[in-house]
Amino acid sequence: MSGIVAGKIALVTGAGSGIGRAACLVLAREGANIIAADQCGLAAQETHRYGVGGKKHICLSVDVSMSESVNMAMSDIIDNYTVPPSIIVNSAGITRDNFLLKMDERMFQKVLDVNLKGTFLVVQAAAKAMIEAKITRGSIVNVASIVGRTGNIGQCNYSASKAGVEAFTKTVAKEFGPFDIRCNAVVPGFIKSPMTDAVPEKVIQKILPHVAMGRMGRPQEVAEVIAFLSSERSSYVNGACVEVTGG
Ligand SMILES: NC(=O)c1ccc[n+]([C@@H]2O[C@H](COP(=O)([O-])OP(=O)(O)OC[C@H]3O[C@@H](n4cnc5c(N)ncnc54)[C@H](O)[C@@H]3O)[C@@H](O)[C@H]2O)c1
Repeated sequence: MSGIVAGKIALVTGAGSGIGRAACLVLAREGANIIAADQCGLAAQETHRYGVGGKKHICLSVDVSMSESVNMAMSDIIDNYTVPPSIIVNSAGITRDNFLLKMDERMFQKVLDVNLKGTFLVVQAAAKAMIEAKITRGSIVNVASIVGRTGNIGQCNYSASKAGVEAFTKTVAKEFGPFDIRCNAVVPGFIKSPMTDAVPEKVIQKILPHVAMGRMGRPQEVAEVIAFLSSERSSYVNGACVEVTGG
């Protein structure tokens, strides 16, 4: 099998939809064995059937915001492959938008729990397993968001969680660089996916003039950057947060 990640094992969270699904397809095209993990087990199975079917690919149901679920998934993976994955893509994410004065405390917490704590739990479990198995040339790619840099009306929870993902990424890069495990993030702009399908057309038309390329991105356009960061092609890129926004 040829490709820039040939033979590697890649765990992708949020694999059932959008950017996570596209990451599974691109990494599989580039020769990786894919673990498609999603809270929605059916969606993960669909990704599996849709394009990454094959005996070296598996799908798992996991809730990244729950440590028991993440740890169980990691031990299932090691049972299946005997070694932990050396590529981790954290794409699981949610929005629960509202204006700050109307933001429900539970909705604030829920978004932090999935987007930021979920990234932490997966990275902690995976890095521990990689270090125990003496895996080198590991690569972790987190999915942040441009609104973590700019802020966005109605997204005080989401934007804060994604700013946190960038700071977290830089810390992971420092802690695991000595183990030859890199950690980077992609910082997508406005990407067409089920997450943004909920955005009303009139809001989309207000956003697009601020995008230099004048259009929304496609999940695959983010996934190609994820694949580059996952691969040895980016072997000296560590702690970087790469914008994929169309300018
Ligand atoms: N679409 C965009 O414009 C955009 C822009 C910037 C960043 N992002 C980020 O990209 C990532 C993927 O977004 P998308 O557009 O593909 O969204 P999406 O809604 O299409 O996919 C998100 C996936 O995450 C899964 N998920 C949600 N909670 C989970 C949990 N607790 N455990 C495991 N899986 C869970 C969902 O089931 C879904 O399959 C997210 O982190 C999102 O914040 C998206």
